[in-house]
Amino acid sequence: MVWAFFRLQRGRLLLLPAFVFTVVLFYLVSQNSYQITNALSSATRPIWDKAEGPKNIITHYYSEGLHINADVCKLHNWKPRAASRVKILDAILMSTELDLLEIRMNELDAVVDRFFIIESNATFTGLPKETFFALNRQRFAKFEKKISYRLVPGYALEPGQSPFDQENNHRVQMTNMLRAHIAELLPDTQTLVIMSDIDELPAAHTVQLLRMCDFGQSIHLQLRNYVYSFEWLVGLTSWRASVHVWNPDVYYRHGQSSDTVLADAGWHCSYCFRTISEYATKMQGFSHADRIGGRLDLLDPKRIQDTICKGKDIFGMLPEAYSYVDLFSKLSLEPLTTAVGLPLFLTENAERFRFLLPGGCQREAPRPSTETGPMVGDIG
Ligand SMILES: *[C@@H]1O[C@H](CO)[C@@H](O)[C@H](O)[C@H]1NC(C)=O
Repeated sequence: MVWAFFRLQRGRLLLLPAFVFTVVLFYLVSQNSYQITNALSSATRPIWDKAEGPKNIITHYYSEGLHINADVCKLHNWKPRAASRVKILDAILMSTELDLLEIRMNELDAVVDRFFIIESNATFTGLPKETFFALNRQRFAKFEKKISYRLVPGYALEPGQSPFDQENNHRVQMTNMLRAHIAELLPDTQTLVIMSDIDELPAAHTVQLLRMCDFGQSIHLQLRNYVYSFEWLVGLTSWRASVHVWNPDVYYRHGQSSDTVLADAGWHCSYCFRTISEYATKMQGFSHADRIGGRLDLLDPKRIQDTICKGKDIFGMLPEAYSYVDLFSKLSLEPLTTAVGLPLFLTENAERFRFLLPGGCQREAPRPSTETGPMVGDIG
């Protein structure tokens, strides 16, 4: 009896605060529904979404100076490649990242026979954009005779069209370009094609290993995934880059094509841009532009700069993660104080690429348009 009385009294006392609380809650929810939906779907992702990607991880052996020979193949449980004539083609979809491209070409020059670059005058979402490679081609003059380049005209999206259609078109064009080149090679040539986005960079020693050893039809590359620069390491979470032995059925792709992945095979530097304006362009321009969710304040230059220096998620959302351990480790990235084991050309030119290294988070003021060309899509 006494207990019931107290319950009743307490119920009345709580009525007003409960009402106020409910009103405030409704207000907050209605103001932030996009962020809340996202936070909920990210936070519960480990439940509803199983980790994608290849499961068979090949232990990768490498030490500086290692001579990669038949014994090293054996160490990876592979046989040496039988073909005597092997060509390695590096196929890249160009975006804005000229610095990463320069580091890449220098890293891979010794092991790659030809670079294939596709670029568009529009983002995947159909906004006009500068053709960064075409405008800066002289910067890559020392590789000129190894470069095949194609400009794929972009278009504004019609209702019902998705950015993925445009992205897919680029992959089809790349496949055609590769096919045309490979058809001209000597008939007994075995051709390996590296398929990766511009920010996914296999280490030169990895490519050497794959040239030397018979890994099968295709293999994914597990890459160290960094954000903004080599100061912020997310983990060994990147696996989409792959290497394929070419045959008429192969096409240029970025999804899962094999269950096998070679561990720790290079670097994936996401959002590693030199200028703030590239961040704004990228956030509006890529196939996941829906993440902005109408929140133009996310494109504020000061907020972007702050995010880069603190290693936070650029979209102000929880990071996508597939296990809770992953999720919580990603929420608080610690800045790295090591820059050991990075691409050689980056370390040799540390001053030029300061923004990619620990302690270099402060981005440059916008540069005169003559240097990179005006950023048409820039709203920062
Ligand atoms: C891209 O270039 C093509 C051909 O040069 C042109 O027709 C098209 O309008 C351009 N697209 C954009 C978005 O600028």
